[in-house]
Amino acid sequence: MNYKGSIFAISGSLRSGSSNHNILRFLNKLVPADISYYIYDRLAEIPPFDPGMDHEHPPEAVVELRNFMKNASGIVICTPEYAFGVPGQLKNMLDWMVSSSSLVDKPVALITASSVGSHAHAALLLTLGALSAKMIDGATLLIPFIKSKIDTDGNFTDEETEKALREVMKVFLKAI
Ligand SMILES: Cc1cc2nc3c(=O)[nH]c(=O)nc-3n(C[C@H](O)[C@H](O)[C@H](O)COP(=O)(O)O)c2cc1C
Repeated sequence: MNYKGSIFAISGSLRSGSSNHNILRFLNKLVPADISYYIYDRLAEIPPFDPGMDHEHPPEAVVELRNFMKNASGIVICTPEYAFGVPGQLKNMLDWMVSSSSLVDKPVALITASSVGSHAHAALLLTLGALSAKMIDGATLLIPFIKSKIDTDGNFTDEETEKALREVMKVFLKAI
C-alpha cells in the first residue's frame, strides 16, 4: 500500500455480499488514480478490546490497523446498524484506537447504510468525536432502506443514493 494520498476504507459489516462493502467498492471508482484506496479486510481478526492488553505490545492486528489509520490521508467508514446500535466489531475496533490517537484530526467520511440506521449513525458521530476525528461537512450520509437502493451485485437501483454518494466523495476528496 502506498501511504501517500491514501484512503483507508472500513466496512462495519462482515457479511459476504454486504451492501456496505458494495458501497465501498463503488466509492473506489470515484477516487483519482493518484490516490490509493484500500478496503480493510481484517476487521474480524481484531481481538476484543482489553485495556489491560493496550500497552507496549498490543495485538499484531491492532498494531497494523493503527498504522493504516495513522498513515492514511483519510478514512471512510461505511456501516449498517445492528439492534439499534453500532456493529460490535466496528465499535470494538474504535475502542482500540482511543489510546493510540490514530484518528486525531484524521478526516473521516461516515456512511451508515442500513434498514433505518439513525441510532448507529448518531452513536458513531459521538464516538468519532470522542476520538477527535475530523468530521467533514457534507461527508456524512445516512442511507435508510439500503436493500431497496442497491442490489446484491452492487448496482444502484436508486439514482438519488448514487448521486448522494458521489457528492460525499467529492466533498471528502477535496478535504483530504
Ligand atoms: C442481527 C441484525 C440486527 C439488525 N438490526 C438493525 C437495526 O437495529 N437497525 C437497522 O437499521 N437495521 C438493522 N438490521 C438490518 C441491517 O442493517 C441490514 O440488513 C443491512 O443491510 C446490513 O448491512 P450489509 O448489507 O452491509 O450487511 C439488522 C440486521 C441484523 C442481521
